[in-house]
Amino acid sequence: MTIDLFEQSPPEPWAEPICEGAVVLRRFASVRDAELLKEIEQVADQAPFRQMKTPGGHTMSVAMTCCGDWGWVTDAQGYRYQQQDPVYGSSWPGMPELFHTLAAEAAAKAGYAGFEPDSCLVNRYSTGAKMGLHQDKDEDDFGQPIVSVSLGTPVTFQFGGTRRSDRPQRVLLEHGDVVVWGGPARLRYHGVLTLKANHHPLTGVYRYNLTFRRAR
Ligand code: SIN
Ligand code: FE2
Repeated sequence: MTIDLFEQSPPEPWAEPICEGAVVLRRFASVRDAELLKEIEQVADQAPFRQMKTPGGHTMSVAMTCCGDWGWVTDAQGYRYQQQDPVYGSSWPGMPELFHTLAAEAAAKAGYAGFEPDSCLVNRYSTGAKMGLHQDKDEDDFGQPIVSVSLGTPVTFQFGGTRRSDRPQRVLLEHGDVVVWGGPARLRYHGVLTLKANHHPLTGVYRYNLTFRRAR
């Protein structure tokens, strides 16, 4: 009887520190996963996934779109936030209420109360896609944290130091895991290793990542 009840209730999310200022909230987004994926689809209906080019001319292996007031873009002119989708010239889709709430709750749980994201980058990884080590530094206020939500197939996340040469820690990120970094960890290098061929019942071969920022 007790065992039955236990199996029916959703797992409690738990917090796993990575370093000072950074934490993984295991399965924090799991309970709302189907709704989150529906919202991603709706965002992508208005602003389709595209593979952008780095300032150096390389096509990124990750397909991206954005929602919220500000979208993150990259092209020959550089990395930046802008209010227009460069493909369509229109504003980015609004940030779904659920996204905003989830990001604010995760930030608060990690010790960053009052986080109000105005930008969400939606990354879609297919088999073979990866993201090299980088810092998130196109935002105005580094006092605001980054909230990163993983959905779908698992990947190895790398979390390094404040210099590119610092040896990164490796953390496996699975469906529903949320990473929050801020404060002393805000400018740490991070990235993900190549996505392996895999299957998730809700996303198929894909891994999605929602990265919430306060851009302005
Ligand atoms: C990012 O740093 O923008 C993405 C990280 C991830 O996919 O987990
Ligand atoms: Fe990043």
